[in-house]
Amino acid sequence: PEAITVQELANRMAEKGADLVKALFNMGMMVTVNQTIDQDTAELLVEEFGHRIQRVSESDVDINSSDDVDPEETLKARPPVVTIMGHVDHGKTSLLDALRGTDVVRGESGGITQHIGAYQITTKNKQKLTFLDTPGHEAFTQMRARGANVTDIVILVVAADDGIMPQTIEAINHTKAAGVPMIVAINKCDKPEANPQKIRERLLEHEVIVEEMSGDVQDVEVSAKSGAGLDELIDKIMLQAELLELKARPDRDAEGTVIEAQLDKGRGPVATVLITRGTLRRGDVFVVGTESGRVRAMIDDKGKQVKEAGPSFPVEVLGIGGVPNAGDQLAVVENEQRAREVSEYRSEKAHAKRTAATPANFDAMFSNLK
Ligand code: GTP
Ligand code: MG
Repeated sequence: PEAITVQELANRMAEKGADLVKALFNMGMMVTVNQTIDQDTAELLVEEFGHRIQRVSESDVDINSSDDVDPEETLKARPPVVTIMGHVDHGKTSLLDALRGTDVVRGESGGITQHIGAYQITTKNKQKLTFLDTPGHEAFTQMRARGANVTDIVILVVAADDGIMPQTIEAINHTKAAGVPMIVAINKCDKPEANPQKIRERLLEHEVIVEEMSGDVQDVEVSAKSGAGLDELIDKIMLQAELLELKARPDRDAEGTVIEAQLDKGRGPVATVLITRGTLRRGDVFVVGTESGRVRAMIDDKGKQVKEAGPSFPVEVLGIGGVPNAGDQLAVVENEQRAREVSEYRSEKAHAKRTAATPANFDAMFSNLK
């Protein structure tokens, strides 16, 4: 920015606005905290206050930029992130619950299940899988629009006694648009009226060709109610995951994506974050969307405090300055000063985008009247 208000500069420097006004007065300038000053004056002030000048540039702040690629030799296998989608009442929640029941770790600990929007299970073969709790299609699309493509595999749930419904088609389209592989779970196969073959045939009309129809989309008959087919479903997910060769670098500053966030009465802002690379640790300073903070505590989906979280691991993060948005990117930075700079720069940019959009909208409105 070429100009900045005295207050904004004060915030960035973590100084009082009034002190800056005083300093400006001594420099022969009469300004209030709400007035803007030019860059040269700002630099003089910064030096006056003994701060190091560090201009925040676009590239500086884009810490989640994709051209920052981790070298191949640093990558380690990571668990797949799976999202379950499908029509209303086709059994998404029941299937998730049933899959959760197969978690050997949960079975052992017998802990109280915490709802954190994402959870991880450990299979009999000690493999880990991360599930995102059935976000609405809207949430899926919204996350995608924000560049947060966190899902590796989509499970499309279709009730064998109902068939292909509007939201089934929507889910197919979203999955195709995201370029994410799909596994079809034909659910409610315990019902006498279930007709899985009919589902496979009807899927052809939507260009989903399952294995049984000589296609390459995996399908499996399941019953969330009886538990039939669940092991096979897990095997197919792991097979798909192997084909994808999912990897991430664990030994670096953490980056992650906000799955959901809210203001908790007792605990303050809380966000469920899915770590995408690196390892998040207690005490780490981070930026998330336009907010910043320091990890005060991390809680896993079993309600247990954890000291660190690696790739594909979902955790609740406490210690954020405000409530971020779903899809926001979290990135660990070197110190609080840097976190403030980046989050302020991001909010200024967000603000500029909002105000810049107004005249264009007005033009569009009036051009319709001509
Ligand atoms: P929404 O969240 O409302 O979109 O529904 P959902 O897709 O999560 O479905 P949910 O798991 O709530 O299941 C809907 C109904 O189907 C419930 O009454 C379940 O008990 C029943 N149901 C789910 N799976 C099965 C199954 O495998 N067999 C039978 N018989 N019933 C099932
Ligand atoms: Mg549900």
